[in-house]
Amino acid sequence: MSHTLDPELRRALAARIRYYNEMGIYDFYRRETPGEVATVAAAAAASDAVAVSIQSESREEMSPRKAATVAVPVAVEDNIFEVLAPKPEQGVSDPGKALKIIREDLGDCTRCPLHKQGRKQIVFGVGNPTTDLMFVGEGPGADEDQQGEPFVGRAGQLLNNMIKAMGITREQVYIANIVKCRPPGNRTPEREECETCSPFLMRQIAVIKPQVVVALGAVAAKTLLAMNSSMAQLRGRFYDFKPTGVRSSDPNWDGCKLAVTYHPAFLLRDPRQKGEAWKDLQMVMKELGLKAAKSTT
Ligand code: URA
Repeated sequence: MSHTLDPELRRALAARIRYYNEMGIYDFYRRETPGEVATVAAAAAASDAVAVSIQSESREEMSPRKAATVAVPVAVEDNIFEVLAPKPEQGVSDPGKALKIIREDLGDCTRCPLHKQGRKQIVFGVGNPTTDLMFVGEGPGADEDQQGEPFVGRAGQLLNNMIKAMGITREQVYIANIVKCRPPGNRTPEREECETCSPFLMRQIAVIKPQVVVALGAVAAKTLLAMNSSMAQLRGRFYDFKPTGVRSSDPNWDGCKLAVTYHPAFLLRDPRQKGEAWKDLQMVMKELGLKAAKSTT
C-alpha cells in the first residue's frame, strides 16, 4: 500500500519527533486499537489512520500522564517509518560495521527525485568511522558522482588543505553530504530532497559519535540545525547537536558540538573569506586540542 503524507504534515511530524528526541524519547509505538500497542514498524502497512503513542524511558517525568499520545489521523507514507522504526544498525557496536549496515539499508535508493536525474552512483561518505571530527557538505558534484567519494573535485582539494592546516589528514576525519546523489547541474538540493536523505546522515553521525561536526555552507547548516538563518548569523559559535530521529548505540554519547563555516566552493569563488573560515576552524581546533600545521612556505 503506498500513501503520500502531505509535506507540511510530514515536516510538522518530523519537528514533533525532534522535540521528543530532545527530551530523550526515541521509541514510538502505533496504537492499533484502544489499549493495544504494537510497534510502528510491525504495523506500518496495516492501516490508513495512525495514532502514535510515545512512551518515555523515564515515564515519571511525564507527569501528570504516564505516556503521551500523538494522534495522526492521516494516510501513512512508508518513508515516515524510517524516522520512527528501530534502525537495523542499533546495537551494533563496531562503527565500521554499523556504517555498512546503513549503506545496505540505503540500497539503490529511489526515495527522492534525484535518483532519476542523472546520478551515476550514491556517494555515501568516506573516512574514519571512529573520528572525533566530521565535515558535512551539501551534495556530490560531477567529480564526486564519478568517483563515488565526497569532496574529490576542486572544492575537495581546498577542503583537504583546510584539514591539513588544522594539523590532521583527510583520512583521520569523516566526510559526508546532506544529499547523497548529485543534483543535476550542481543545483542546490531541494528541501524535500534534503529531508528525505538527511535521516541517513543522522544515522551515520549517531554511529560515528564525533565530538565536533563542521557544517560546510548554508544547506548543511540549515538542514542539520533545522534553522533558517543566514551564514552571518550561523557562524562564529558552537551549537549543541544531537542527530534527529535516531539514538546512538552508545548511551554515554550525549551528542556533540556543531560549528558552521563557509563551503569550500564558496571560498574558491570568494577567497577573501578564507580568513573568516580559518577563524571557524581555529575554534574547532581549540575544542579538539589540535595544533595548526607548521607552514611549509
Ligand atoms: N560540494 C559538496 O557539497 N559536496 C561534495 O562532496 C562536493 C562538492
